[in-house]
Amino acid sequence: MDFFVEPAAATGGSVSVPGDKSISHRALMLAAIADGTSRIRGFLAGEDCLATSEALRSLGVAIEVRGSEVTVHGAGLHGLRKPAQALDLGNSGTGVRLLAGLLCGQAFDSVLTGDRSLAQRPMERIIVPLERMGASIGSRNGRLPLNVHGSRLSGISYELPVASAQVKSAILLAALYAGGETVVMEPAPTRDHTERLMRSMGIDLDGGDGRIRLTGGQAVRAADVQVPADLSSAAFFVLAALVAPDCELVLGSVGVNPTRTGCLDILREMGGDIELENPRFLGDEPVADIRVRSSALRGIRVDPKLVPLAIDEFPVLFVAAAAARGATSFEGIGELRVKESDRIAVMARALQRLGIRVEETGDGAIVHGGLIQGGTVDSDGDHRVAMSMAVAGTVAAAPVRILNADNVATSFPGFASRLQGIGGKIATHTKQPA
Ligand code: S3P
Repeated sequence: MDFFVEPAAATGGSVSVPGDKSISHRALMLAAIADGTSRIRGFLAGEDCLATSEALRSLGVAIEVRGSEVTVHGAGLHGLRKPAQALDLGNSGTGVRLLAGLLCGQAFDSVLTGDRSLAQRPMERIIVPLERMGASIGSRNGRLPLNVHGSRLSGISYELPVASAQVKSAILLAALYAGGETVVMEPAPTRDHTERLMRSMGIDLDGGDGRIRLTGGQAVRAADVQVPADLSSAAFFVLAALVAPDCELVLGSVGVNPTRTGCLDILREMGGDIELENPRFLGDEPVADIRVRSSALRGIRVDPKLVPLAIDEFPVLFVAAAAARGATSFEGIGELRVKESDRIAVMARALQRLGIRVEETGDGAIVHGGLIQGGTVDSDGDHRVAMSMAVAGTVAAAPVRILNADNVATSFPGFASRLQGIGGKIATHTKQPA
């Protein structure tokens, strides 16, 4: 499927975006091993989270998904069953890495696979710490498929070599099955949804100052989980409003956990008029309504310290930089090369196709703001690249076609209709016309 976007800037109003992907995955997994029945509201029924729910069903957990409302009949800490076949996590790095953590301490073996993009992504980063806990995980040179042999685990003290919430969470899930205490140390703060959810489900977890401690064997209590709207999905609309003329847009009940809001800080520093209104809590997660007004953006040097707090929003930030006056430099974003695509290379190529000057460096890029032209770009099957380039198309000088946009359904079903709802002119084509 391709997107075809005609120039039509966002006109404003209000828009709601679906539930947070990271929290939806975690809520499913923890509810699956809880004692009792959990309800998840605001669940993201996108392909990634649905792949996780299918995997958990194959592990013997009864799950009912009705749109954004999910009921999970917890199997208890030791209630998962050996799956009859390999568990296919599709495009989902979070699904496969967190499940590897959950499964390596079970009394049975399992196999984890995924799509072509996921099969190229590095798994060593979870294999190394999980094997130090006593796990045994076979792989093809650190890539999928993962053959997870259920093993007896013991707690470790582990300093993460990369700031990664997925690795941290895989270790914390494994730690529930490990003897003794596990300590995880982070080089920089990363999203802490696992820690918040574990606490709210009765797990005694000691956190703060970049050091998380958890003792194995604790029961997980069923809970009612309210998932906030996903800031990573809201970011496309924040960008659409910022780059449009005379636009004011409100996004309701969006998660604003401080481990996620780096993109808002960066866009504000670029001159973006972004306000958080009605700050409140949904369960253990802070949320707010985000009000955005058209702004003249200017190029900046992005503080590398903010990178883990904005890790999924760099495609959006590259487009903001393209629409800004002057140059924006990004450093320390090498992790982007191992996301759903090599996001530095794919975004650089896409923006260059639309007439924007981008200099790629090893772990960064310099984007020179300019006039965004029309043209055809390839998202390389990366959902966030496709949506970011669709927003670029709203303010381009001529139509923009974005190839390979199917994977938008992994994180944001309904993206195109919501963009239309705020004045965008976007069509989806299942076959490229001659
Ligand atoms: C995620 C963590 C991040 C992020 C991904 C979701 C999570 O990955 O890029 O989209 O849910 O834990 P890393 O932890 O690998 O940086």
